[in-house]
Amino acid sequence: MISVGMSIGAFLILIIIHWVYNWRNPRCNGKLPPGSMGWPLLGETIQFFTPNTTSDIAPFVKERMKRYGPIFRTSVVGRPVIVSTDPDLNYFIFQQEGQLFQSWYPDTFTEIFGRQNVGSLHGFMYKYLKNMVLNLFGSESLKKMLPEVEEVAKNKLKRWSGQTSVEMKEATANMIFDLTAKKLISYDSETSPENLRESFVAFIQGLISFPIDIPGTAFHKCLQGRKKAMKMLKTMLEERRAKPRKEGTDFFDYVLEELQKNDTILTEAIALDLMFVLLFASFETTSLAITLATKFLHDHPLALKELTEEHETIIRSRENPASGLTWKEYKSMKFTFQVINETVRLANIVPAIFRKTLRDINFKGYTIPAGWAVMVCPPAVHLNPAKYQDPLDFNPWRWEGVEINGATRNFMAFGGGMRFCVGTDFTKVQMAVFLHSLVTKYRWQTIGGGNTVRTPGLQFPNGYHVRISEKDEKIL
Ligand code: HEM
Ligand SMILES: *[C@@H]1O[C@H](CO)[C@@H](O)[C@H](O)[C@H]1NC(C)=O
Ligand SMILES: *[C@@H]1O[C@H](CO)[C@@H](O)[C@H](O)[C@H]1NC(C)=O
Ligand SMILES: *[C@@H]1O[C@H](CO)[C@@H](O)[C@H](O)[C@H]1NC(C)=O
Repeated sequence: MISVGMSIGAFLILIIIHWVYNWRNPRCNGKLPPGSMGWPLLGETIQFFTPNTTSDIAPFVKERMKRYGPIFRTSVVGRPVIVSTDPDLNYFIFQQEGQLFQSWYPDTFTEIFGRQNVGSLHGFMYKYLKNMVLNLFGSESLKKMLPEVEEVAKNKLKRWSGQTSVEMKEATANMIFDLTAKKLISYDSETSPENLRESFVAFIQGLISFPIDIPGTAFHKCLQGRKKAMKMLKTMLEERRAKPRKEGTDFFDYVLEELQKNDTILTEAIALDLMFVLLFASFETTSLAITLATKFLHDHPLALKELTEEHETIIRSRENPASGLTWKEYKSMKFTFQVINETVRLANIVPAIFRKTLRDINFKGYTIPAGWAVMVCPPAVHLNPAKYQDPLDFNPWRWEGVEINGATRNFMAFGGGMRFCVGTDFTKVQMAVFLHSLVTKYRWQTIGGGNTVRTPGLQFPNGYHVRISEKDEKIL
């Protein structure tokens, strides 16, 4: 008996050892990049999500770069992953989208954004959706949207300047959410009985978080929010179908029109997932960028001075100083775009871009097996001292004349290749117009908060509280 028990025990131990060995030494028809796969199942997930206050490359990545070099393997969120901090590999990955690599995101993303969200779609359907989005957020639409964006920014700033304190992250998130929701679904937060924005609270935390769906976790909260928001969006779409609007068109009208075509590839589920992604992507990312820009400018008076001069010059050069911003003026904001570039470089709002390999890939002597996840790590590029001198300094002047060399390999805040962010221009318009309204008429003091944490997504745990007041000498 005992010996049978012992041999079963020994057998089990052998199986476990074998399993752990296989976990640590994944099969590969070539040389895997170096690295550690961590604990079975868990991998190095906990280390990856450990919050840190540094604005430098995440310690998780930095330590491994030092130990293993720019390309290493690990296991996070239940997947073997190759992490790339190598500019050439990053470039290769972006260029080979759909050929050797395919957009892929962890299960947390697909559960929150829906299985049919634009990031998980490929080929024809993907191109179709992308065109739809570009119709809405491309430069032709933005030209028309410009006066509205300015109007909203002006009104909000006026309101905030009457308050003793404003939390910038939340305030700008609301501002952009309202504008996007209006464009997409004619949603008006002031008159609607339902609070759509509420469902999107605490989203960033849940998105890049540990994927455990039990009450109390950030992931769980996020999923609940998604359910609520999707229900509201579905109801709104039904209402619209039953009662078409007469004047004006928004994205809903466009979707309904598409759905009615008899040869359409669009489905209601895909349209609703798209709506959800767009609402989320638009306000959460841009509000972080605006908040950080406000903070950087507050802390760097010289940059604020130059920015203010640029915008005052725009107003002074007008025939009528009170007339609104024109597209030509927007395009002329040279220093503003440097400030925006520098802000998003340091913000690293998207700390990881995921892909999946479609077949074995040989690169710089390593082999990445088919089916593995690949994680492009933009912060490692943006904070590389060989490319950006004193990389942690906010220095908008470093972008002077950069247009000429088009240093795309060293800048990937908005991704790259075919999947380049479709909201880039929208973000830039939002930021530039907001900064224009802010610096020409107001000054602001920091009251509290402003510290940042990365988990690894950027967060302001205590917000950024400022007091905004009208300038004594105004140009307008
Ligand atoms: C500071 C602001 C923003 C940053 C840093 C940012 C960053 C990014 C990045 C890095 C990607 C590439 C993801 C990948 O390759 O897998 C991306 C894609 C995307 N972004 Fe943005 N984004 C911003 C604003 C926006 C806005 C305002 C919108 C909505 C209008 C938006 C909508 C999207 C969509 C729909 C995609 C998916 C495109 C695709 O899969 O082809 N983003 N964004
Ligand atoms: C951030 O990471 C560094 C390097 O691993 C560590 O020394 C530091 O204690 C961490 N800080 C916080 C606040 O977690
Ligand atoms: C629907 O599609 C068929 C062929 O697929 C076409 O003959 C017909 O005219 C279409 N009807 C409408 C209303 O577009
Ligand atoms: C911002 O960065 C992009 C990408 O490197 C570059 O093409 C653009 O010219 C930069 N803008 C400015 C004003 O430096």
